[in-house]
Amino acid sequence: MKLMDVIRGKAKACARRIVLPEGDEPRTVEAARIVKAEGLAEPILLTQEAISAPSNAGKFAEYAAGLYELRKAKGLTEEAAAKLVADPMYYGMMMVKSGDADGLVSGAVHSTGDMLRPALQVIRTSPGMRLVSSSFLMECPDRSMGEDGLLVYADCVVNPCPDAEELAHIAVASADTARRLCGISEPRVAMLSFSTKGSADHPLVEKVRRATEIAHGLAPDLLIDGELQLDAALVPEVAALKAKGSPVAGRANVLVFPDLQAGNIGYKITQRIGGASCFAVLQGLARPCNDLSRGCSVEDIVNTIAATAAQA
Ligand code: ACO
Repeated sequence: MKLMDVIRGKAKACARRIVLPEGDEPRTVEAARIVKAEGLAEPILLTQEAISAPSNAGKFAEYAAGLYELRKAKGLTEEAAAKLVADPMYYGMMMVKSGDADGLVSGAVHSTGDMLRPALQVIRTSPGMRLVSSSFLMECPDRSMGEDGLLVYADCVVNPCPDAEELAHIAVASADTARRLCGISEPRVAMLSFSTKGSADHPLVEKVRRATEIAHGLAPDLLIDGELQLDAALVPEVAALKAKGSPVAGRANVLVFPDLQAGNIGYKITQRIGGASCFAVLQGLARPCNDLSRGCSVEDIVNTIAATAAQA
């Protein structure tokens, strides 16, 4: 079954309320219409006018007070909180935080950082999660790769320079996304490097080795191996030469990149040169919020809303 069919099926089964803070952006408005018509979610289009309408004064005051409580230790004043809540992005985050919506999708207009920062400040990590990161869900035309052409790439969006411990947490969170959202019953996680099993020695390689050890400790039952080069991770013939006996090499379906430069470049190469279709989800937030690319199509927005509903 195709990935989006799996995700849309999960979304339909749960009928979640997803707030869209870019509520007057034309692609978003059209996506909301489709999502509602297809029963994928209950979209809430948020506009500046709706927020500042007199009939909304009660909710506005409630969210401003809530945001002040959340951030006063960080120096936020009551006045500044009220100003922030007048921004649909913060208002939408407060809706999710207080349970008036189940998730949020934004980014057709805002940059990734402008959406991530409020999410990190307001929604924060879910209990037990060390950090927020992302998985890119890649559907490749070559069905011999990954799980019948499906690969999960991490982290290509959030953490510029993860240390070994953060990288280990990203690996475990991405395996969880592969299992829960994509329906991959056996995630096989490759910790990527420019070295395979000691073929090179460098502090950058050492970080990936250390991350692999930590990840084993965090999730002893997870199939995870490193350090592996990309070809050793994906191609059985190369794996047989370079990483004999590895439970992951040659058949990885989750690829963990050593930092954001590698991950972001890697997913774009797969998309642009490899012809893969893809979209990203955030993982580790207490409630699901997801970012769009500013070049997104209506279909991309529909898919991301469905994924957010499925995560919720
Ligand atoms: N997980 C959990 N919390 C985090 C994380 C994280 N990964 N990163 C930051 N935080 C928290 C901080 O602890 C801080 O909390 P506090 O204010 O309560 O103390 C808060 O979030 C804000 O953190 P800052 O360090 O002040 O924010 P920063 O300016 O570093 O921004 C951000 C964080 C937005 C995630 C930044 O790291 C970033 O810009 N990442 C890259 C985004 C990007 O451009 N991606 C590539 C493009 S996307 C694409 O191509 C699809």
